[in-house]
Amino acid sequence: MGEHERYNRERWDKTSDSYQAYHGVEISRVPDAWGAWRIPESELRVLPDITGKDVLELGCGGGQWSIWLAQNGARVTGLDLSERQLSHARSSAAAVGVGVVLVQGSAESLPFRDGTFDLVLSDHGAMSWGDPDRTLPEVARVLRPGGILVFCAASPLFIICWDEQIDGPGERLRRDYFGLHRVEEGDGAATFNLPYGEWVRRFRMHGLSIDALVEPRPAEGAVSTFYPEATEWARRWPAEVIWKVRREP
Ligand SMILES: C[S@@+](CC[C@H](N)C(=O)[O-])C[C@H]1O[C@@H](n2cnc3c(N)ncnc32)[C@H](O)[C@@H]1O
Repeated sequence: MGEHERYNRERWDKTSDSYQAYHGVEISRVPDAWGAWRIPESELRVLPDITGKDVLELGCGGGQWSIWLAQNGARVTGLDLSERQLSHARSSAAAVGVGVVLVQGSAESLPFRDGTFDLVLSDHGAMSWGDPDRTLPEVARVLRPGGILVFCAASPLFIICWDEQIDGPGERLRRDYFGLHRVEEGDGAATFNLPYGEWVRRFRMHGLSIDALVEPRPAEGAVSTFYPEATEWARRWPAEVIWKVRREP
């Protein structure tokens, strides 16, 4: 396991209880919704038909998406680095009597055979916290031909406008766009983001073709527990992106 994976696991084990008590409650209220502003899937319509499909959630956290997917007819595996996050997912799945396979592991080295899944999903999960040079080849490997990867992540613009002073996105570009890759999150923890062209180059390299790039825009007055002061910013510029790509047959 690499250094950032160890630090990220430590970070999530340490913060899991408070994260679930604060953000988790809001996520559970509408589990089939994307990103920091929880825009419903019924509005964005990025998921394929999930009935009877084998689905992997990468960085499932408290398992809210995984549980919803299982309740709606998918066979679901939730993978996460953090034992504490998985224990929240385990209790929530048990509380509603839903069967979800929960696995501790890293998206950078997936413990699954080639061609196991029809859909891989991540909502600010391991596609954001893992290095795309390691996660993307792994996702391409475990997807069946024609299988789909859908992931929601911070937009590159959001990252380059991040202003430490206001602890949120500002109206000035504060870091370089070119070369964007590892983003320090403090105490050795890291997230990852790439310029658009770099995502596209890597998708093609791993046999993934693009179905859609969605830039979700929160409604006027929408509230985010993650970025309560940034709704106006996110209405002017894309704070998040959702990529939908497909493994070529
Ligand atoms: C922001 S949470 C996402 C979960 C859920 N969608 C949510 O919004 O709460 C990020 C999750 O990714 C997990 N994670 C980080 N790096 C990972 C990796 N390399 N492999 C699997 N999971 C990872 C963390 O442990 C954490 O539970």
